[in-house]
Parts: sequence; structure tokens; C-alpha cells
Amino acid sequence: MLEDLLIHELGPLGDGVHRSERGHVYVDRTLPGDVVRAKIHEGAGGLLRGDVIELIDASPHRAKAPCANYDVCGGCTLQHASDAFYLAWKVGIVRTALERKSLVPKVWHEPVFLPAGRRRRVTFAAAKKNNIVTLGYFRRRSHQVTDIASCLTADPPIMDLRAKLVTALVPILQEGKTADIFVQTVGGRFEIVITGPIGKKGKPDLAVHEAIAQLAQVPGINRISWRPREHAVPETMIEVGPLHARFGALDVALPSLAFLQPTEAGERALVAAVMELLPQTGKFADLFSGCGTFTGPMLARGPVDAFEVIGTCVRALDKAKGVQPLKVVQRDLFRKPLQPGEAGRYDAIVFDPPRAGAADQVRALAASTAPLIIGVSCNPATFVRDARTLVDGGYSLESVKVVDQFTWSHHVELVAAFAK
Ligand SMILES: C[S@@+](CC[C@H](N)C(=O)[O-])C[C@H]1O[C@@H](n2cnc3c(N)ncnc32)[C@H](O)[C@@H]1O
Repeated sequence: MLEDLLIHELGPLGDGVHRSERGHVYVDRTLPGDVVRAKIHEGAGGLLRGDVIELIDASPHRAKAPCANYDVCGGCTLQHASDAFYLAWKVGIVRTALERKSLVPKVWHEPVFLPAGRRRRVTFAAAKKNNIVTLGYFRRRSHQVTDIASCLTADPPIMDLRAKLVTALVPILQEGKTADIFVQTVGGRFEIVITGPIGKKGKPDLAVHEAIAQLAQVPGINRISWRPREHAVPETMIEVGPLHARFGALDVALPSLAFLQPTEAGERALVAAVMELLPQTGKFADLFSGCGTFTGPMLARGPVDAFEVIGTCVRALDKAKGVQPLKVVQRDLFRKPLQPGEAGRYDAIVFDPPRAGAADQVRALAASTAPLIIGVSCNPATFVRDARTLVDGGYSLESVKVVDQFTWSHHVELVAAFAK
């Protein structure tokens, strides 16, 4: 069915939305003000989707997408928007989410928008067929692996390495199968984690070990690991040495797949925003600490207790040497949240949970007497839920700062302060 649709707004994933009596129609790669001729069909989850057949009237917010792969690649969603529209939309996501929960920060700090091209963590999709490896990302709105040889969001050295991986992976990946290739780079060194079937039978064999040893000769590669599936613990296949990251005065030897903020500049911006809010001295807690992105800089102001569930991160952070006392605790904060009495011992608490947020942990914090709570979030939807809990518990929402390091995607981060 073909229809002419006016696009009214963008949806949460960056798709254009046409509002109609029969419900929303989602049309990707469109913008508010566009009029498009679209083929309507029912998509996943019963949502109405429109595929653009023709752009009849272009939105004034349109811009030429800078990436040559934009039409096929599913990696970016908003390259076709002008910078002004894009910046306002990103801040608007946070503003609207707060408004829905009747939350009004006393101060909106100037947002930070970081340029693209500096992503230091990239997961490529790989497929091997007829002894040829296709390496790139999924095709737009599909699970078809597409060769992507240039990417404007990734750190250029990662794309240089990708070119070498296309041939190096031929003797490693299993014929007819797909795998994920995670590449992380710090200080010019690389870590590679392969997830999926490898070798003739889906697991490492002699030929795979030889090919991995060969790949490790590529300058800069520090470690190559493998795991059969997502969530499995990676098995180190070759290690020249771990990647080292510096967080404030801490030098941390990163475990495999360690969480890092996706860009160095993003990390600096988030750390700067947290440090701006943190008192000059005191005793602090860093909840969901990872390998210490915030813990390290916070140690310059006083003792820090860091809480994290992943054992390898806990041990890596525990081994790092700081100037101030650092206590690292392995604790599942979903099952065993820091209790109000414990939280009350700190002058400030930083929490930076995964996308799901920290509902139970925040309920306990809301009942505490900790004078300052600093929230870092990559998901405005769960952030506002947690912020509402803190405000209902007697905290005031002092400030919000938007940080965009996920350029051209619908993701956005923020740092917020709550006081009691
Ligand atoms: C968004 S990352 C932030 C890490 C760190 N703050 C940083 O910026 O590098 C969230 C962290 O929460 C940890 N995490 C996830 N679930 C957890 C849980 N139930 N208890 C404690 N930590 C958890 C993850 O392992 C991850 O390190």
C-alpha cells in the first residue's frame, strides 16, 4: 500500500514518525517536515513501518549524509540531519524524558557534543562464505552482514586494522557461519575478541592457533581472545600484554572486553562533569565502577570505595596503585544494593549503571542521608525513572549535563547531581 505521509517527529530510535488515527507509522531516514511516498507494512512487534519510495518534500533540517555507506549501513541513524537539528534533538530527548516524570533540574549545564571518528570500541559483524570473509556491520534493518571498509565513527587505526582482518580471519572463522569481531584500542594498542564459531568444528584447532599466532604479528596487537557465544567468558588465545588504561593516577591493566567509555574525549567530558560536582575533599563511593574510569580521578580528592560485579574488573582495579586509599568491592548491586546506612557514610556517591539503570540500588540511596549523589547514565528512560525515585526520597535535582559521544545515533549520555 503506497501513501503520502508527513513526518511529524522523530521516535526514540531516530526513525521519523507519522502520527495517524490508526497509530504511528515509523519511517526511517526521514525527518520532521518531510513528506514522503512510502510503502506501508506491518513490521516487528506489529508496528506500522513505511519504506520511502520517494521524497516528495524535503524537511528544512535535511543535510547530505557525510558517509558513503550511509544508505546500506545500519550503524548510524541520523547523518541525514543538519547539525543544528541533531544537537537540539539530542538535548530534547533528555528534556522530554525529564518532563514526562515532572522533573526540572535547577541548572542545565552546557551540553557537550563530540566530533565523530573517535570510537575506540567497535564490534564488526563477520561472515565467511566460500572462503571469503565479509567484515563490516549489519545492513540497515536486517541481519545481513555487509562489507564496510570505511566508517566515519570509528577510530581510523581500527579501520586500518579491519583491512588486515579481512584476510587474517579467513583461516580462523568457520565456513558458512557468522561471528562478532570486537576491537578495542588504547594508546595505539589493540585487543581483539572473536565471538562465535571458529575452526572446522566451531572451536579452536591447530590451524586456528597458527592463524591467530600469525595475526598477533600485526604491529600493535596486544591480545586476541575467543568465546563461543555472547556472555561466555573469553579465552585468551594469545597475549603480548594487556591493554593499559590510565584513570587519574591509576594505571589499570584492562581485562578482556573491559568496559571503557566509547571515546577518549567522551571519557574526559564525563569525568570532567563528575569532578566539577564532586566536593574538593571527602570520602566517596563509585557504584558500578567498571575498571575505574571515575574511581581514579576521584581518588585525587579523597578515599574511594569502588563497587562492581565483574570479578576481572574488580581484580584489575584492586591491583592498580593509587595515591589515596582505594577499596574495591565485588558486589552485585542489583541483588545486594548498598544500603541506606552504608550510603550515609559517604560525602558523595557516583553511580553509573548499565542501560537498565539501577532501580533497587537507587531506592536504597533515596532513603539514605548521603548529601550528594551524582548519576551518570547512557539511557535517559531508565535515568528519569531512577531520578524520580531519588526526588521522591527527598533529593533535589540540582543539575543535568548532556554529553553526546554516540555521534549520529539515538544514544545520549548525561551527568546529573542530586542533593539532600
Ligand atoms: C556503564 S558501565 C560503567 C563503568 C564505569 N563507571 C566506567 O565509566 O567505565 C556499567 C558498569 O556496571 C557494572 N554492572 C552491571 N551490573 C552490575 C551489578 N548488578 N552490580 C554491580 N555492577 C554492575 C558493569 O559491569 C559495568 O562495569
